[in-house]
Amino acid sequence: MQLDKNKPEKISNEEIVKIIELARWAPSGDNSQHWSFHWDGELLRVFVDKQRAEHILNPDDVCTYYAMGCLFEYIEAAALKYGYKAKLKYIDNDDLFAEYQFAECPADSGYIDSLCKRYTDRRYYKNKAVTENIINKCHNLAGKFEGIQLYFKTDKKYPEKFLDSFIKAEQFLWHKFKNLNFILQWMRLSKKEFQESSDGLSYGNLGINFIDALNLKLTRLYPFLYPLMRPFVLFKIAYNTKRYLREGAGLFTITVSDLTNNQQKIGVGRLGTQIWSYLNSEDISVQPMTSLVMQIYYFNQGNLAQAFDLNNIEYIQGAEDIFKKIYEIPSEEQLAWQFRFGYSEPVTKAMSIKRRDVDEMLNIS
Ligand SMILES: Cc1cc2nc3c(=O)[nH]c(=O)nc-3n(C[C@H](O)[C@H](O)[C@H](O)COP(=O)(O)O)c2cc1C
Repeated sequence: MQLDKNKPEKISNEEIVKIIELARWAPSGDNSQHWSFHWDGELLRVFVDKQRAEHILNPDDVCTYYAMGCLFEYIEAAALKYGYKAKLKYIDNDDLFAEYQFAECPADSGYIDSLCKRYTDRRYYKNKAVTENIINKCHNLAGKFEGIQLYFKTDKKYPEKFLDSFIKAEQFLWHKFKNLNFILQWMRLSKKEFQESSDGLSYGNLGINFIDALNLKLTRLYPFLYPLMRPFVLFKIAYNTKRYLREGAGLFTITVSDLTNNQQKIGVGRLGTQIWSYLNSEDISVQPMTSLVMQIYYFNQGNLAQAFDLNNIEYIQGAEDIFKKIYEIPSEEQLAWQFRFGYSEPVTKAMSIKRRDVDEMLNIS
């Protein structure tokens, strides 16, 4: 590859805008896009928007670190497309998360092109296995991360206890109205709501149908309907979760040696993004399933009951042990992030979910 001789030596404001235009497509929990940027001609500062990042499934900002890792992958890959190596300085002081400087290098758009085809698929997947070769490629990606391991579960044999804790963890929203209400703020439950917002999840990509969306909308409007809706929704979530586990190609989990190490959490986000976009490039769909691992996290911190306002947290007791057993994860490793994956309908929905405008998240001075 050649350096572009006509290119000015320093990165321009226009190029920064183009980089952020692409970086915006990084995944974030509930599509909350909890970041903003400032460019002063030398440094690109990356800020965390703590208010946007606040989430019941984000204890101690664990998921914020994963998402920032995803974002770093996008920024660096986008810079490469325009012929710059983005050099990261990790800061993590208050809102200021990191700073980037840019140095010229040969342009390569391969990785960002594949990242831009990445997306979350919440549909049912086909009952078709993925080849060993593809799984090995994922392991090769994981091999580059220190302290981080990757495990696949493809035999789809799940003991009752695992199934039960997985289902109950996915039903977490419906345990209490206050939990549901928290997430409802990120749901865009009609065409109008979706069109008028540039973040959150529309019912089109939540994997729910029109009736479900209507029920949720009514519950949001009239909370007294919640006890009436609850049994139907719990049934549907249980049905879906069982089906997700029975069909598709299986699950994979990323573990770390130390979940208090922020670099490792950022690494989890980076690796997650790399595997996710690689699998999507092979027409294999991916959906993160963060709920169970985060509830195990809360439980280990001793505050699951408090966070979820629950009297009965039996479903999570022993869940970590059985989780590790079925994946053959050594007991000293810590569960970080879990996904399901498998073949689905063709990957044509890439980038269909909205993002905030560049103007809203990038400040230039
Ligand atoms: C840290 C993190 C956790 C996530 N957890 C879940 C999850 O539990 N279930 C889910 O369906 N999607 C989950 N997502 C996917 C996001 O909702 C999705 O990335 C976002 O809405 C943007 O959509 P896209 O991935 O299609 O671009 C998670 C994403 C991140 C970064």
